[in-house]
Amino acid sequence: LYQLLPKDPSRPPVVWHWIPLFGSAASYGQDPIKFYQECGEKYGNIFTFILLGRRCTVTLGAEGNNFVLGGKHTDLCAEDAYTHLTTPVFGKDVVYDCPNELLMEQKKFVKFGLRNDNFRTYMPMIEDEVTQFMKKQDHFRIFQMNDINEWGTFDVLDVMSEITILTASRTLQGPEVRDTITASYADVFSDLDGGFTPIHWLFPSLPLPSYRKRDIAHKKISDLYVSIIRKRRESGSKLEAPDMIASLMEQKYRSGRALKDHEIAHIMIALLMAGQHTSSATGSWLMLHVADHPEIGEALYQEQVKNFRLPNGKWRTMDFEEIKDLPVLDSVIRETLRVHPPIHSIMRKVRTDIAVPATLASPSENGTYVVPTGDYVWSSPAVSQLDPRIWKNSNEWDPTRWSDPQGMAAAAGRAYEDSEGAKIDYGFGLVSKGTDSPYQPFGAGRHRCIGEQFAYLQLSSVIATVIRQVELKLETPFPQPNYQTLITLPKKPRAISYRRRQFD
Ligand code: HEM
Repeated sequence: LYQLLPKDPSRPPVVWHWIPLFGSAASYGQDPIKFYQECGEKYGNIFTFILLGRRCTVTLGAEGNNFVLGGKHTDLCAEDAYTHLTTPVFGKDVVYDCPNELLMEQKKFVKFGLRNDNFRTYMPMIEDEVTQFMKKQDHFRIFQMNDINEWGTFDVLDVMSEITILTASRTLQGPEVRDTITASYADVFSDLDGGFTPIHWLFPSLPLPSYRKRDIAHKKISDLYVSIIRKRRESGSKLEAPDMIASLMEQKYRSGRALKDHEIAHIMIALLMAGQHTSSATGSWLMLHVADHPEIGEALYQEQVKNFRLPNGKWRTMDFEEIKDLPVLDSVIRETLRVHPPIHSIMRKVRTDIAVPATLASPSENGTYVVPTGDYVWSSPAVSQLDPRIWKNSNEWDPTRWSDPQGMAAAAGRAYEDSEGAKIDYGFGLVSKGTDSPYQPFGAGRHRCIGEQFAYLQLSSVIATVIRQVELKLETPFPQPNYQTLITLPKKPRAISYRRRQFD
């Protein structure tokens, strides 16, 4: 009944719900994108919904993205929104468990590790890792097939998850992590991962076994990294390795202090967690669409043949610099990230009452809405990336839109400039980095993803290596998205059929 009482006209409209504290949890949890789209139609580009006692104010469209992602971090705070989820998993003193200024320094350290001369060494490692995987694994056994016409199937998410962790650990994380990950630590990583779910965001501490397992796993993995760091320092070996541990060991904060061992360990865990599900989800959706569109699979293959097949029939490894000149591969990745951005909602917590610009929504001619302190503000680039007013046939996965200049223009916007005025451009060339862009699979503003370029090279290299060896097709209905996880993953069944290519 309280919803029928006169409302404060300066507050955004509240989504109607039957059970006071529970609010809209059921409809949001089932399909957040549909929920946002329906609320957008009913209430406009700004509305507040109740999620198990929390007030969440959603701002839609490019203006809404700009409001949340371009907001001042002193008003709209990421650490207040995320730290109770991330700190038990990543660990102390890094990312959202430190003042924002330190996070900005830590991001610079990581960017130093993500430099082109390191990237160049990664391409052959990824290719090798994927080739070995395809040879060995039971669920992807192309080299054991005798008959060229034999079709097999694999669960795409299982395969992409394994390939993602193997390739990320072989390159960014370094050889010691690569060796432990497949052996003794697989279960420990899975326990840590089990602590990174929407339930853990909603209920930071519950007396459940998964919370205890998460804490034990965090300690074990943190200790593993610290021991790797110490061994490297003591032996003097691998101090100049092309991986992130080596890069972080070289860095110093502006105060002149070097990173402590536990800080390096916790940054490494954060990078592992930030990249694992985002990249494996993107790779899975990409493969599913390619399997569903054999003509695109063929175009991808022909692009590889044209550029990397040697006269003797062998394949040449792609150079990092060459990836951006492969329009089919590039547009397949972009389009997958448009239709399936792994992170559907980006949130901040409001630290001080904040007025909403009239361009986003104005309740009356004289005033604007004010979002009160304590609310969460959420943007959903996933909604603007599917907006039919911006994208032609917006729900269709159509990579050709990226070679259409109008499609490109839709994604164009201002370049984001960091606090020191330097232009940040991590790749994807034509895609905007602006906080007001409708295309933001990697976010925007000061919390923008720093892993974009690595994800791009990892995905490109994995896809190219797979597509060189096999044809793909989808024989079951296209999978629905699962929104019960933090990252939007394809639901089962998600088996792709594959057949070894016939080489001339
Ligand atoms: C932040 C997406 C891969 C490291 C973000 C954000 C998005 C995103 C949307 C912004 C979150 C926010 O504003 O609250 C993606 C996607 C990926 C990907 C779609 C792959 C397809 C990676 C990888 C790494 C990484 C591989 C590490 C190597 C980070 C970090 C942040 C971040 C450290 C936090 C930045 C901050 O809060 O300032 N990512 N990411 N990401 N990403 Fe990624």
